Amino acid sequence: MSAPDCIVRAARLNGRVVDLYVADGKVLEVRETGGISATNPDPAPAACTEIDATGLVLLPSLVDAHAHLREPGHEYKETIASGLDAAAHGGFGTVMAMANTAPVNDEAAITDFMLAQARRAAPHGPRLRPIGALTKGLQGRELAPMAELARAGCVAFSNDGAPVTDSGLFRRALEYSSDLGLRVIDHCEDPGLADGGVMHEGALSGRLGLKGQPSTAEAVQVARDVLLSLQLRIPVHVAHVSCRESVELIAWAKQRGAPVTAEVTPHHLVFDETAMRDYDADAKVNPPLRTADDREALRQALRDGTIDMLATDHAPHAAHEKEVPVDEAPFGVSGLDTALSLTWSLVADGVLDEAAFVRAWVSAPGAAFSLAVNAFKPGDPADFLLLDPAATWTVTPQAMRSKGKNTLCRGRTLPGVLRYHYLAGRPLVAPEPGPARGR
Ligand code: DOR
Repeated sequence: MSAPDCIVRAARLNGRVVDLYVADGKVLEVRETGGISATNPDPAPAACTEIDATGLVLLPSLVDAHAHLREPGHEYKETIASGLDAAAHGGFGTVMAMANTAPVNDEAAITDFMLAQARRAAPHGPRLRPIGALTKGLQGRELAPMAELARAGCVAFSNDGAPVTDSGLFRRALEYSSDLGLRVIDHCEDPGLADGGVMHEGALSGRLGLKGQPSTAEAVQVARDVLLSLQLRIPVHVAHVSCRESVELIAWAKQRGAPVTAEVTPHHLVFDETAMRDYDADAKVNPPLRTADDREALRQALRDGTIDMLATDHAPHAAHEKEVPVDEAPFGVSGLDTALSLTWSLVADGVLDEAAFVRAWVSAPGAAFSLAVNAFKPGDPADFLLLDPAATWTVTPQAMRSKGKNTLCRGRTLPGVLRYHYLAGRPLVAPEPGPARGR
């Protein structure tokens, strides 16, 4: 074994207590803790960083396959710098940035700009991976120059925020993206059925007097696109699945061998439509938070693999945009700061096990979007975090690093405080002297 430059001692890794050895930005080895004795003292080399991780959970850095970082164009909501800072402290080593910027990321110059901003703001990560627009200007009329976007560094294509209603165009988009070896991230929504609804359509929307959008608005397009995937044998990735009907359609297509993948957000797993009870614009998100039964279907689907992965759909907005009547507020919740703790709370509550958590945040997005991730095998990138599962923190605007304070967790105390985050063997987050987040 070559000399380690960092040793993490006595960390909890999926039920084991281990030491992690890192050298040159890569995992050297993971060993059970306790092999050290007087005759084998395992001293660390002089220049080696040692971390006592007793009681801390060791996780690979998370991947966020769906985030809106707002730059270029809406820097008052978020910048690439503030988004990546929130990502680093939220446990994300890789962030895939959606194309609905202004201008839209539909040409190489925009992708180049985003990558340059990320290099400037966060030279050691988190890594920004842009998602190219599927159609020019996200207008749904003409395909974007997909080959050019792929060459510039886009890792997927999406019309997120503006669904593609023209089925023939969508089919061609799938065929081109498949030729380029990249996957389409599909925002499934029939705008005619969604029809400006600001929450889930049901008894509650009726009682509140708010216009609803039915689950069918999502599910009809999921049906179309999993059928296309099955017919063409081309991958489709269904973004932010919100309802039972979509889960069942995805399960149906997967059983028949369609190369479909799907994601769910932490907010759809934790909250439901009742978050809208007090006309809270922070609960306005697209697709909407649905019923408790839908939430249960999503949880089960994530456990059994029908839904492959978690993604934040981080959608930061400025306070003045959300402090208006629900009808006028933009859709979206800010997610990068809270996603790790919210989903770790599902592990703490026994809704998800740690292996499913890691699959959903790391291995599944890594495989779907061909990103190098850490499986703690020798040679893997030393991208890891140490989470204190016994500590908690309270979500306040000050505790959030994103510019978007539009969270449903405001005032909540969440479990799990990130103590360390290393990317390629370098510290992105490490404890500082003085007061820190969490107790
Ligand atoms: O809630 C959402 N916000 N859903 C989307 O599809 C877009 C996103 C945004 O960009 O704000």
